[in-house]
Amino acid sequence: MTERAAGLNDGLTDYGDKDFSRYLRRSFAQSMGYSRTFLDKPVIGIAYTASDFNNCHRHFPELLAAVKRGVLATGALPLEFPTISLGEVFLSPTSLKFRNLMAMDTEEMIRAQPMDAVVLMGGCDKTVPAQLMGAVSANRPAIMLIGGPMMTGRHRGERLGACTDCRRFWARYRAGDIDAEEISAVEGQLAVTAGTCAVMGTASTMACLTEALGMCLPGTAAIPAVHADRLRAAEATGIAAVKLIGSKLTPSAIINQKSVENALRALLALGGSTNAIIHLTAIAGRAGVKVSLDQLNKLSDSTPVLVNLKPVGNGYMEDFYAAGGMGALLRELKPLLHLDCLTVTGETLGERLEGGDGRYLDRTIIASREMPLETEGGLIALFGNLAPKGAILKRSAADAKLFEHEGRAVVFSSLADLAARIDDPALDVAPDDILVLQNAGPHAPSCMPEAGYLPIPKKLAQHGVKDMIRISDARMSGTAFGTIVLHVTPDAASGGPLGLVRNGDRIRLSVKKRSIELLVSDAELEKRAAAAPVLKERPERGYAKLFAEQILGADEGCDIRILV
Ligand code: FES
Repeated sequence: MTERAAGLNDGLTDYGDKDFSRYLRRSFAQSMGYSRTFLDKPVIGIAYTASDFNNCHRHFPELLAAVKRGVLATGALPLEFPTISLGEVFLSPTSLKFRNLMAMDTEEMIRAQPMDAVVLMGGCDKTVPAQLMGAVSANRPAIMLIGGPMMTGRHRGERLGACTDCRRFWARYRAGDIDAEEISAVEGQLAVTAGTCAVMGTASTMACLTEALGMCLPGTAAIPAVHADRLRAAEATGIAAVKLIGSKLTPSAIINQKSVENALRALLALGGSTNAIIHLTAIAGRAGVKVSLDQLNKLSDSTPVLVNLKPVGNGYMEDFYAAGGMGALLRELKPLLHLDCLTVTGETLGERLEGGDGRYLDRTIIASREMPLETEGGLIALFGNLAPKGAILKRSAADAKLFEHEGRAVVFSSLADLAARIDDPALDVAPDDILVLQNAGPHAPSCMPEAGYLPIPKKLAQHGVKDMIRISDARMSGTAFGTIVLHVTPDAASGGPLGLVRNGDRIRLSVKKRSIELLVSDAELEKRAAAAPVLKERPERGYAKLFAEQILGADEGCDIRILV
């Protein structure tokens, strides 16, 4: 502790008489049974996100107790406070809509309540980016405790983990390969413990990027949710939070141009989720750091894919932890990283990575830079007249046979149109066509859901077609795979050219040239733009109205304009 903490005297409620405010606060705090000795201690706030609508956080009560133990043992008073929790599959239309609301909640509650430092407890998909966004804006000393991934289940001798296997089995069910009884048995084995999705999906990617940024304790991103090491990490996080009191090591001192670049390197080497680009852009934006898709491409050219986890490879998060976790990966990437970046422990990244951590390193899961899984990064940005401000392709999860491809567009004008026609036996579609989904971006009423993983039309799936080029302004779950172009920006609902594609147009994808082109003349596109209908459906009140009026494009992290 470098300086006297303010504790409960911080940020007094305004009654126009400070002594009265202090007296009243102490009195009410004593009603909770705290002695004066404890009320005089510095305070560690704990942003707590347990919720019966969030299965991924169901172990949080146990983790909370361990955090509090660490705080108490180090001489401070731990006070938890609830914020919004975002359980990925329980939110409609999509959790992204509420990430910014959670970020606002987190920021304002950190700022409004008396605390000398804060522990952020998050895990499920949008919770970690929301908490980091809020913490950067509040800019009080903060440390993240990640919830950790689920363990895998078993089905007929095969390991299963949410959610890559969810999609794989669902695709087999749609193709008629397995029956209703088997898909029902699979359903019961996909998510078998507390914790976040078991593969390198968005939650796991954001956990790993949090460690790469330096915002959680070293070696803690990948610990399984139910492992005793996770509880030990929680206790250590409580201790570390107390050490942050009075420190100048606030989130904006840790999250800067260099640490964001480190996180982008880590993302590429992980073969991580496409969603992480949006979230990292939003987190960095709060710290005044711009993430450009050109920068992503440059880093992608010189960052190999090293981690062999689903959906890109074979393993699960529990394997990544056993294989050495983020320490091993960051050591492998060391020559590519900015080692002078400060981490939340006060060490630089270089100091953290000095020597080894004595842990076993499994090369089947974490490859060396000399023998990478792929020589270039897992994600690339595409530009062209179809995506003037960029689009994302997860190259490492795509079929290389489709990397240089020209095809006929089969267009769905909305999610409802997609649902109505994708399995229509009369749909005019062939395996080398390109499926296009419009009006599923951040400015659409659906608020950019994870709908970019368009299903293969049933009539093709039943004939063994497993992948096609699919293009949309939507997002895709980090657990999904396929040759899928996402986040097309500007999106169709904000007047982007994606909305001008018509059935039968030709589209050309070139991964080599990083381009996505609509082969239609400018004159014809102008004619179509002039005739395009204006989107009338606009929310009239509340957060939905704020979101619709203020939401920024994917290239700006889908943050809300007034919060950046
Ligand atoms: Fe919570 Fe996947 S549903 S991380």
